[in-house]
Amino acid sequence: MPYFKTLDDLEPAGKYVLVRLDLNLPLQEGQVADLTRLERSLPTLKELAAKKAKVIVMAHLGRPKGWNRTFTLAPIAEALKKAMVPTPVFFCKESQGLHVKEAIDHLKEGEILLLENIRFVKGEEDNDPAFAKEMATWANVYINDAFSTAHRAHVSTEGVAHLLPSYAGRLMEQELKTLERVLEYPEAPMMAIVGGAKVSTKLPLLKNLLPKVDFLVIGGAMANTFLAAKGYDVGASLYEPDLMETSLELMKGEKVLLPVDVVVAESLEDPKNHQHREISSIGPTEKIFDIGPATIAYILKTMQRCHTLLWNGPLGVFEVPPFDYGTNAVAQGVARLTAEGALLSIAGGGDTVAALNHAGVLNDFSYVSTAGGAFLEWLEGKPLPGVKALEGMA
Ligand code: 3PG
Repeated sequence: MPYFKTLDDLEPAGKYVLVRLDLNLPLQEGQVADLTRLERSLPTLKELAAKKAKVIVMAHLGRPKGWNRTFTLAPIAEALKKAMVPTPVFFCKESQGLHVKEAIDHLKEGEILLLENIRFVKGEEDNDPAFAKEMATWANVYINDAFSTAHRAHVSTEGVAHLLPSYAGRLMEQELKTLERVLEYPEAPMMAIVGGAKVSTKLPLLKNLLPKVDFLVIGGAMANTFLAAKGYDVGASLYEPDLMETSLELMKGEKVLLPVDVVVAESLEDPKNHQHREISSIGPTEKIFDIGPATIAYILKTMQRCHTLLWNGPLGVFEVPPFDYGTNAVAQGVARLTAEGALLSIAGGGDTVAALNHAGVLNDFSYVSTAGGAFLEWLEGKPLPGVKALEGMA
């Protein structure tokens, strides 16, 4: 297990503490549409403010490529101010240079300063050593609480960690401990559910997971490639002929569970005309959009034998009812087993969080990671630069 320092190892009173958060929140018409990531960041901020640190927060929004008004953190600053009442939160309209230094110099103990989008600085994404050096002058210590940006080797996620004493924040600590427990020391039997559109994008993840799990449920359009490789006619469904050979290889260990029945339609525009089909009787113009009831029952029955569950990717086109039925039913089954204490359930990845939210069970899993790309790279077994840099400090 990698070792990293946490807030338990830090006495922050009176210190300038530079914190990297992931406040990349969805906005709708300039307003924050979902506060989950901000709320998950609060324990670290509240702890630091209560312990009388002078807190400087760095975060990004979107992929702006230089200064761009659309990507200002101003609406997020407002949301943070509300969430942190009565702690004073200030917003600095710049993220580099003299004004930042001045705003930092004005900070009092227990106060928080949020800087403008750190990606407005050109050197940020290039991990420019000169910007890292400037950033390091802002504070006495650095805290990374943004697991979901830990796959980026940017100045605020990686470069600066080499120049200041560095620590994992509470959210980073929780993400790393939970995720490590699942991949390194899972309680067997373990099931993974991997869904999504394409085998090609999930191949490294499937290869890394297979040796670690007892059952691997494949759903979503990527299951079509596996079904086609087994000789089933998937009609007009999306699949990847180039990956049929690879899919056969992956199925050799007999851990892979595929749909035995599905829900089909001719088009997503016409969901009312959906049909239930055995996997061996799909018509030439039909497309698979969800798993069927026999598959749901089979997955849930197998899951009852498991102690650990890892979920990434929906099992059908959950955004278009009734093709959300399979994902909802399996997600609700996971929630039930988790509530009974029979299952440790972990989920993550952008689409997955949306799908579990849609199924109404987002808070009923043991743990749902706020990370998208970082969660996938972690599942693939890739080292995450933001985490590596923290380990280097230990
Ligand atoms: C995310 O939304 O997954 C993180 O904030 C990382 O954003 P990025 O993919 O733009 O680096």
